[in-house]
Amino acid sequence: MLIDGKPYRSIWREPDGDAVRVIDQTLLPHAFETTLLRTPADAARAITTMQVRGAPLIGATAAYGLAFAMREDPSDGNLARASAALLATRPTAVNLRWALERMQSVLQPLGAQARAAAAFTEAELLCEEDVATNAAIGRHGLSLIEAAASLAPGRPVRILTHCNAGWLATVDWGTALAPIYMAHDRGLPLHVWVDETRPRNQGAALTAWELGRHGVPHALIVDNAGGHLMQHGRVDLCLVGADRVTRQGDVANKIGTYLKALAAHDNGVPFYVALPSSTIDWRITDGLTEIPIEERAEAEVLEVAGRMADGGGQAMRVRIAPPETPAANFAFDVTPARLIGGLITERGVCPASASALATLFPDLALPA
Ligand code: MRU
Repeated sequence: MLIDGKPYRSIWREPDGDAVRVIDQTLLPHAFETTLLRTPADAARAITTMQVRGAPLIGATAAYGLAFAMREDPSDGNLARASAALLATRPTAVNLRWALERMQSVLQPLGAQARAAAAFTEAELLCEEDVATNAAIGRHGLSLIEAAASLAPGRPVRILTHCNAGWLATVDWGTALAPIYMAHDRGLPLHVWVDETRPRNQGAALTAWELGRHGVPHALIVDNAGGHLMQHGRVDLCLVGADRVTRQGDVANKIGTYLKALAAHDNGVPFYVALPSSTIDWRITDGLTEIPIEERAEAEVLEVAGRMADGGGQAMRVRIAPPETPAANFAFDVTPARLIGGLITERGVCPASASALATLFPDLALPA
């Protein structure tokens, strides 16, 4: 997508082929800096420190991490070790496991000498497919926005989104934001309500930044404002992403997504989840009991990161609770399928149900 008119992806291979470059998302929106990844440890660190984040981008970065590992040592032992180390970086987004298993299935049958080249080729292919997949999600989701526009003649369609499911969270386009970019590019008037998404503020730092760079009208709201806006008829559509979707359509996404779905349900606001099929975990059914929920450092809750609003804009962290206060930091929650109006996938929009998902993806669904 565009940054000040220049097209970017969130991850790309350097011209010499030796390394990949990613946008350091921990520095946004205050600084746009890129960083080089050359080793499996670099890739793992970028994921754990959240320089890269978002389910599809985590998978793409891990794929390159495995390619770096094969360049260092293409043995079976190292393939297993590097895969395990990368898999351990973050627990909830299943795209990580999906990408590593895809890479392993390509690499395992090969002789050691062929693995490094094949791994880079496959990682690159995975990234290209991610872009095409998200573009398809965008086209399918666009029809939902067009339908909402036909019910709101003469005013913008008002869409609420949570966290960042934009191009920064994928290789390009994004999932939940792909239909928004496509609608905007076609001249459909839109207004996006951006949840700030405590504690890491992916909405404030990343979604607002992306939308702003692309010229999409939006306003940042505090996480608790969505219910109020829905009660007052000021949201036409909720569009969010996903980190793991079960075979019956339960959705794990950034903490707070469930509360938005509840408010949408109570107010008759359509609530849609956009996801590539790589986010579906066909091995599990019940999201509440079977999806591992990441728990992160309490400092993310107890402190707020930002820049001094005046006095030179120095980066800083500010403590917001008494020094002795402990915190709990659950990074994701699960929205049950019954609260979801539909799933927007690369193959089309379907109800959040086991039968609809199996019908749309007969080649991927595992037998019940
Ligand atoms: O902790 P993060 O920033 O990796 O969480 C990201 C999200 O929850 C996104 O909504 C999700 O990965 C979908 S990205 C297309």
